[in-house]
Amino acid sequence: MDNTIIFATGNEGKVREIRAILADTPYHVITMKEAGIDLDIREDGATFTANAVIKAKAVAAVTDHIVLADDSGLEIDYLHGEPGVLSARYMGKDTSYDIKNNNLIERLSGVAEEDRSARFVCAVAACLPDKTILTTVGTMEGRIAHAIKGTNGFGYDPIFFLPAYGCTSAEISPEEKNAISHRGKALRQMGEVLKNL
Ligand code: IMP
Repeated sequence: MDNTIIFATGNEGKVREIRAILADTPYHVITMKEAGIDLDIREDGATFTANAVIKAKAVAAVTDHIVLADDSGLEIDYLHGEPGVLSARYMGKDTSYDIKNNNLIERLSGVAEEDRSARFVCAVAACLPDKTILTTVGTMEGRIAHAIKGTNGFGYDPIFFLPAYGCTSAEISPEEKNAISHRGKALRQMGEVLKNL
């Protein structure tokens, strides 16, 4: 059994998270860079799962190790799921999150509390050495806040209000967020799947 997993991401934070989740297993997680793989992958899927599968397959085409990939974003119900799979590219990929976040607050101005529901979604895909694909999905429910608040986290965290905490996901600690986040849930689920292979 080959215990090496290549995680198709350039994000060190995500790699640390999956390493912690798989710490009590025989799996050893390395990045694409550590595996010497450099690919420019077009994420043009219509869903988070489709994009995670596209990434996992693209990397698996050049290696026989297990490949893991994830895709995530924010869905706002009032905006019919926007920014969705385009979360990173919303208003242009180089636009600051201060501008993106203020724009979303503006688009929801005057919208009642009960219509401000939103969720972060994360899909994780694994491509096994025999090219079987396994997927998991995790979500974190919340509401779009009325103002930007908090400096932890990244991206849309400062406008993502968590009713159970009474603050945004940019105001809780990274440990608290990992325990309840879309990505934590999807990665832990995938961890369970991989442990049971
Ligand atoms: P990716 O999955 O790394 O491509 O991330 C997609 C985009 O979704 C990010 O660039 C953020 O805009 C947004 N996003 C995903 N997860 C989070 C989160 O936990 N907090 C804030 N924004 C997030």
